[in-house]
Amino acid sequence: MTDTKKISEMDSDEIKDAVREAYTGVAKINVGCGCEPGIEGTSGCCSEPAAKQTTSCCEDFSEQKITRVNLAEALGYDTEGMPLSATESFAGCGNPVALASLKEGEVVLDLGSGAGLDMFVASEKVGATGKVIGIDMTPAMIEKAKKNAEELGITNVDFRFGDIEDIPVDDNSVDVVISNCVINLAPSKAKVFQEAFRVLKPGGRVMVSDIVLSKPLPKEVSDEVITYTGCIGGAILDVDYLQHMRDAGFKDARITSKAGESVHGAYSAYVTGTKPE
Ligand SMILES: C[S@@+](CC[C@H](N)C(=O)[O-])C[C@H]1O[C@@H](n2cnc3c(N)ncnc32)[C@H](O)[C@@H]1O
Repeated sequence: MTDTKKISEMDSDEIKDAVREAYTGVAKINVGCGCEPGIEGTSGCCSEPAAKQTTSCCEDFSEQKITRVNLAEALGYDTEGMPLSATESFAGCGNPVALASLKEGEVVLDLGSGAGLDMFVASEKVGATGKVIGIDMTPAMIEKAKKNAEELGITNVDFRFGDIEDIPVDDNSVDVVISNCVINLAPSKAKVFQEAFRVLKPGGRVMVSDIVLSKPLPKEVSDEVITYTGCIGGAILDVDYLQHMRDAGFKDARITSKAGESVHGAYSAYVTGTKPE
């Protein structure tokens, strides 16, 4: 069992297995935060909407479920007509689609697309001449997102099983990379940004929401599997996050807004950057 180990004792494949196990639970139990008591190994992105962000979401399942259903709306999503399974499994910490100001015809790539909510919103914005590709390494999430798309009758979406550290997308083929509360889960943020840079067209943009840190986490917090899979333990310092983006080649890498800093200095950030022309 991966979750009896500490994060510092695990290699990156073991960490990804633990993340996959947690989000398989999220997909199967159909509850966004994934903190259902009694289901071992489940977790989820536990950030609350900006107004009342907290890093602890596991106390009361029934209350949490209501919060998850409403979370997307609190973050500004128009969920009218969305299948319940897309909003119930929402595990984001922001609304990168709103930030991305998408245009008709653009190709969008969603890193860690989960049950597909961001993809569905983006698909409407880019229209029939555009396309939205979602990458996720959890088969149950891909299945769920595909079912949700079928239910919605959305066809300009392309779900791909894969790792955001090794993105199954061609070089220079994407206009906008979005991601919602996922990069913190990747053992190598450097690889994620190198890959995002590779797949973007010159002039393309990355616009993500994620959990970052204003100060280092105590080891006892960052070393717990449940904290890691809950989008806190794998978060890195905000300055280091931006440096990884710059090292990958992005210009204008910056945090455009922050919300809900926790006692450990973890906060939800909107982060943007551009691939030079
Ligand atoms: C916190 S959830 C966010 C899902 C979605 N973006 C949302 O806002 O609801 C994290 C998702 O990222 C996926 N994920 C985590 N690490 C990944 C990786 N290295 N490669 C691909 N997908 C990953 C998980 O399987 C899960 O579906």
